[in-house]
Amino acid sequence: MPAHPLAELFAGALDIMTEIDRRAEEGVDHGAAGDVQRLVDRYHPSGLDLVVAEVITETATAKTFRLRRADGADLPPFQAGQYVTLDATVGGTTTSRPFAISSSPASLEAYDLTVRRVPGGRVSNHLIDHLAVGDRVRTSGPLGSFHHNPLFHGEDLVFLAGGSGVAPAMSMIRDIVDHGLARRLHLVYGSRTADDVIFRETLDKLAADHPDRIRVDLVVQRPGADWQGPTGLLTGETITALTGPLVGRMVYVCGPQAMYPYALAELARLGHPRRRVRLEANGAPARPQTQAGWPAERDPEGEVQVTVQGGPSFSTPRGRPLLDALEEHGVRPEVGCRSGECSLCRVRVVSGEVFDAEEARLRLSDAWSGYTHSCVAYPVTDVEIAL
Ligand code: FES
Repeated sequence: MPAHPLAELFAGALDIMTEIDRRAEEGVDHGAAGDVQRLVDRYHPSGLDLVVAEVITETATAKTFRLRRADGADLPPFQAGQYVTLDATVGGTTTSRPFAISSSPASLEAYDLTVRRVPGGRVSNHLIDHLAVGDRVRTSGPLGSFHHNPLFHGEDLVFLAGGSGVAPAMSMIRDIVDHGLARRLHLVYGSRTADDVIFRETLDKLAADHPDRIRVDLVVQRPGADWQGPTGLLTGETITALTGPLVGRMVYVCGPQAMYPYALAELARLGHPRRRVRLEANGAPARPQTQAGWPAERDPEGEVQVTVQGGPSFSTPRGRPLLDALEEHGVRPEVGCRSGECSLCRVRVVSGEVFDAEEARLRLSDAWSGYTHSCVAYPVTDVEIAL
């Protein structure tokens, strides 16, 4: 029998392909159909066409967009902490970004996406400036693993949030309250000023109504004269002064990119084990050349040629994520987290070399087969890729 063309991709591939061929010949069909397919579509839709039902101004720099189905039907269930990607066309380029759902998983009439204006945030700023009630948008179904896991996380949780990173915390808190869960969550939420605090009244009320399960501490970097609460950054001392000992507790962290190394260092200084910290993925590194393994002789500003098999060929700076460059040239792999985790955006490097950022959660089989996660891959030489 001639070797299957995929047989050389990884060890065992030939056995798998032979088994697939055998089953096809014997008429064994494992494809979903009918009720099964409807169930799959309900829980794992490939995409959702939604309408903006409401726009809530949270602060001077943040808005919540309430998205519903046009026919009012329920949306797919999700776990508090998950996100959806939202498609947007900005400056002629169609792209997408993940946004955490801030509403309660107890209500599937709508997904609330809370978006904050950020310097250089092309999509977030575009949404804040232009998205209006009645607009139609395309999102993914719920995605992501940044949610409570009852087997490993326990029932006594700490959440360190910064900026719009409070969105998944809001959903987790609503989950606890709406579902009557016997789970405690202590939110320590850092903001630049008191005016930047998102959901302030809601958080205060939920904490006041459920003191046994919900605690909220707001920490402000630049307090005004009337600020009475804690101030400064979320240092180890501030965290433990508010939360008490962290021993045995899972700590979730979600906020701007700069918050992650800082929070990790502070938690490590407190002796909190890394395995008891969950970080929400938050985008590709802006300066990949600062990571270990970047080839020192390759200028991140220098241009290389990217050729897509059966598609366009274009030049792009080495320091730009491959996915961003592809999208700018009309090539759109499937996309989820844009942070190296979900693997939806993977492409195969046929020739040339890419730098995989440390965020890339590549499987061994990806490496064997030449796949890379394009959202956190940087072409350091001319490359040819296949989708
Ligand atoms: S979009 Fe998730 S790994 Fe790239």
